[in-house]
Amino acid sequence: MSIVIEENTLTAEQFQSIRESTGRKPLPISQIKSALDFGLYRVLAKHNDIPVGMGRLVGDGSMYWYIQDLFVIPEYQGQGIGKAIAEHLIRHINITSPLGITTTVGLFSAVGKDGFYEKLGFTARPSKVYGAGMIKHLNIPENYTKWQDTLFEDMSIEEISEKAAELRAIEQAGHHS
Ligand SMILES: CC(C)(COP(=O)(O)OP(=O)(O)OC[C@H]1O[C@@H](n2cnc3c(N)ncnc32)[C@H](O)[C@@H]1OP(=O)(O)O)[C@@H](O)C(=O)NCCC(=O)NCCS
Repeated sequence: MSIVIEENTLTAEQFQSIRESTGRKPLPISQIKSALDFGLYRVLAKHNDIPVGMGRLVGDGSMYWYIQDLFVIPEYQGQGIGKAIAEHLIRHINITSPLGITTTVGLFSAVGKDGFYEKLGFTARPSKVYGAGMIKHLNIPENYTKWQDTLFEDMSIEEISEKAAELRAIEQAGHHS
């Protein structure tokens, strides 16, 4: 099967549709757009011009790289496309890193997918050498003021007004740029 892998063309709408095909709930398109903008590198796999898979790299682009959102649509799974996408991401790290350095590639495996990543040379955590990988989800309330309250919970009144002024200035600078 001829698969074409495109670099950095993946759109938020394509991301949403590939992700949803694997049973994930939709995300706000604005959140996806921002994530793609701030990511380091992304690929889109196509068959006959149809998007069939994707993968992304996030991180600092130097010491730490993380593979995110590696998905292949169900009809195309089990045909080597996931592996091709992962290899493409890793090749990008190899060719953009300075010679002679060591760099770390991490990821969070979905349930039951660790075997796929082990075949690509990844080590599951925890192990004798590494502690557990850890994760925390933050639900940001729609009401910004309430969110600020939680954020400022442990601060004195003076610290809060200082911080609030700082945030207002950042917000205003954002509106002007
Ligand atoms: C995980 C996923 C990306 C793998 O992509 P894929 O195209 O189906 O996998 P490939 O056909 O490229 O498989 C490559 C190799 O890994 C093996 N493999 C695939 N899935 C595996 C699994 N769950 N456990 C163990 N091995 C697996 C294949 O047998 C193949 O082995 P081979 O090279 O010896 O032939 C894909 O199944 C997927 O998108 N799943 C749903 C979304 C998801 O969970 N993504 C992962 C988020 S962390």
